[in-house]
Amino acid sequence: METTLNRKQMTGKVCLVTGATAGIGKVTATALAAMGADLTIVGRNKEKTENTLRQIKTETGNESIQYLLADFSDLAAVRKLAENFKEKHSKLDVLVNNAGAYFNSRKETSYDVEMTLLVNHLAPFLLTNLLLETIQKSEAGRIVNVSSNAHHKGTMDFDDLGFKKKYSGMAAYGRSKLANVLFSYELARRLGESNITVNALHPGVVTTDIWKTNFPIIGSVLKWVIGLFALSVEEGADNTIYLATSPEVEKVTGKYFVKRDDVLSSELSYDEDVARKLWEISEGITKVG
Ligand SMILES: NC(=O)c1ccc[n+]([C@@H]2O[C@H](COP(=O)([O-])OP(=O)(O)OC[C@H]3O[C@@H](n4cnc5c(N)ncnc54)[C@H](OP(=O)(O)O)[C@@H]3O)[C@@H](O)[C@H]2O)c1
Repeated sequence: METTLNRKQMTGKVCLVTGATAGIGKVTATALAAMGADLTIVGRNKEKTENTLRQIKTETGNESIQYLLADFSDLAAVRKLAENFKEKHSKLDVLVNNAGAYFNSRKETSYDVEMTLLVNHLAPFLLTNLLLETIQKSEAGRIVNVSSNAHHKGTMDFDDLGFKKKYSGMAAYGRSKLANVLFSYELARRLGESNITVNALHPGVVTTDIWKTNFPIIGSVLKWVIGLFALSVEEGADNTIYLATSPEVEKVTGKYFVKRDDVLSSELSYDEDVARKLWEISEGITKVG
């Protein structure tokens, strides 16, 4: 990212960042605020989200920042989030679907899917669809989906989407991140020649808390070890901020970015039948559409 952010570049732009209370999302939100955006940050913990809001306001001097709460393991909360946003805003220029998590052990949910797919794919799928009309009101809307290169190892088994037979945290995470890419491409196809772009990205391997949250014993050590070679959180947020703000990618859609470059994603991510089927299943579970 440019070392000096353009303080006016996002003035008049309405932006929403999920998972804005930590890591890559917090740095992204701070950058958008510094560039003058009318920003909504989304968190799941009231106190942490209010603290983040205060920090971003103090750091950037931007007072046009609000917060909304939703735990992405609860689709009713995601619906409420979209409603609350729409009550206050008539348009949305940039939606950054960044919130994500890793679960070392399998957690079943009330939606008959396991937790990783719910939090990382189904919640942003629902949120995006509920906000689409509001994004359409923007002159040039952008949807930025934070995926991961872990999607390259992701598989899609529609007979056992939730790993009921055999669970591995990495396999579930890979599947959810593949779902982010499949969703991005499918949405871009459905939107066609519209005023909305949709892209997915890999932020790099970044020193954030995602590495320790679900490894209670070795988590801190793991984060330290990863920190020896990983990107700083500022470097990790660069690709997201680039896709959310740069005029260079204003008209680019349906792509996967690493370090600001449009690169190939996994072979499976280009399978349109798989993308369509995942979309239909996701619509069924989230009851959207
Ligand atoms: N770090 C990496 O190396 C890496 C690599 C590839 C991709 N990514 C992706 O980058 C994105 C951001 O990750 P990060 O590394 O910045 O992780 P992080 O520091 O752990 O931040 C994750 C954010 O997501 C929020 N979140 C987690 N579970 C949630 C839930 N159930 N409901 C609502 N919000 C929830 C967290 O909220 P709390 O603050 O309340 O916990 C936090 O704001 C994720 O999508 C991740 O998959 C990260």
